[in-house]
Amino acid sequence: MKILVLHGPNLNLLGTREPGIYGSATLADIDGELEKLAAELGVAIDSFQSNSEGALVDAIQNAMGKVNGIIINPAAYTHTSVAIRDALTAVSLPAVEVHLSNIHTRESFRHTSFTSPVTVGQIIGFGPDSYLLGLRALVGILRRRAQ
Ligand code: DQA
Repeated sequence: MKILVLHGPNLNLLGTREPGIYGSATLADIDGELEKLAAELGVAIDSFQSNSEGALVDAIQNAMGKVNGIIINPAAYTHTSVAIRDALTAVSLPAVEVHLSNIHTRESFRHTSFTSPVTVGQIIGFGPDSYLLGLRALVGILRRRAQ
């Protein structure tokens, strides 16, 4: 089983970016934790970060037929991107949306997610654990579907 992990814009700056909101873990730390959990769960992960909407759309399209599901933190594109939502719909792969922060306790423009309606679920507000919980949830869904 293979899972694609997608990180959106500015998440490459984790560790130094607004640590009061996003904490001190770097993206490499998060990917490392995900790798460890993936090994425990017996799945493979591929991780990709981009600041560009088109590159994220390309990564979703390229995932078709190659992975079983997607964990995505679309970052700011969560609140704006019809293109990423359409790509997720087009590939019909189960996706879990994750956010480090609780977007509902922040500015009102962050309360809307264009992408969550086309995912199986959203896990938010637990810092890096949102990704780990998302991976567990996605693997659980995929295993149940395979039974
Ligand atoms: C974020 C929340 C978004 O609103 C923001 O634009 C981000 C990070 C999060 O993980 O908490 O870049 O997706």
